[in-house]
Amino acid sequence: MKAPVRVTVTGAAGQISYSLLFRIASGAMLGEDQPVILQLLEITPALEALKGVAMELDDCAFPLLAGMVCTDDPNVAFKDTDYALLVGARPRGPGMERKDLLSANAEIFSVQGKAINDHASRDVKVLVVGNPANTNALIAQRNAPDINPRQFTAMMRLDHNRALTQLAQKTGKTIADVKNLVVWGNHSATQYPDVHNATVDGAAAMSLIDQPWYENDFIPTVQQRGAAIIKARGASSAASAANAAIDHMRDWALGSAEGDWVSMGIYSDGSYGIEEGLIYSFPCVCKNGDWEIVQGVETNDFSKARMKATEQELKEERDAVAHLLP
Ligand code: NAI
Repeated sequence: MKAPVRVTVTGAAGQISYSLLFRIASGAMLGEDQPVILQLLEITPALEALKGVAMELDDCAFPLLAGMVCTDDPNVAFKDTDYALLVGARPRGPGMERKDLLSANAEIFSVQGKAINDHASRDVKVLVVGNPANTNALIAQRNAPDINPRQFTAMMRLDHNRALTQLAQKTGKTIADVKNLVVWGNHSATQYPDVHNATVDGAAAMSLIDQPWYENDFIPTVQQRGAAIIKARGASSAASAANAAIDHMRDWALGSAEGDWVSMGIYSDGSYGIEEGLIYSFPCVCKNGDWEIVQGVETNDFSKARMKATEQELKEERDAVAHLLP
């Protein structure tokens, strides 16, 4: 059996974590031969609820769960951590403007970025789930100057998975038949799900669908899926978000599927003309515990315009919190 690794989850008493923690402890994220120590962070008022979650984790008797820490101190939660899933965030309250939301979260993610910088493993892999995920990831990254910026990522995998299913269902095929799809940009309504390079069972996706469906149905359905789930379920997507977090971390740690791409919000190196340093979603492949951006993906004028629009939104989010960025 391997030595245990440390996995930090913030917002550990929340809805997503209730679907996430049990799967991490079962081995779904890092493999069934990898013991884990869970380091769970919550705000002080939620510590009692967190205790209940920890009791349930105990009661599952997971053989891979090698230890658990429950705390309201980020310095404790991120100590020596190898994987950090930043799920906890401040939700938008009544009367709160977008810029208030950005500022409230900027505070949380700057504290957590500093704690990661000071206490985490130098090889830590960070996934930000809490919204606005890309800009929260940027804030955490900028507050962790001693950690390679490549180690801070934002979750776009839920959007990617949503797009896979819409395309598979429309073409009457299975998820396994769909390859090389990507969602570019921000985890928000400006995200751009792009199927121009995708194939379904070996055939070009665009040859199986028509432009009006792609433009007026597929793209808005993927972009607005979160809102549609809230409307239907009366609560936000938690289990599918947790599943996407598992997919993102598992692929990053253990490698993504051969011949396919995944969408990850990552530190832009300027590829595809996207401003360097933004946390932007690109098509990626993962191997040896690292990711790389797939180069040479063809982007037509339709795609370029949408990639720019979502980049513009990320620049505006960054500028709105500029005073809080080191
Ligand atoms: P939730 O409200 O059920 O849970 C959030 C938890 O975070 C709460 O228990 C709260 O006490 C905790 N928390 C707040 N501030 C914290 C801090 N400073 N440190 C530690 N814990 C803190 O929310 P849920 O449904 O679990 O969602 C969490 C976040 O994930 C939300 O921001 C949501 O918008 C986002 N989300 C992101 C998705 C993505 O694709 N990137 C998809 C779905 C949700």
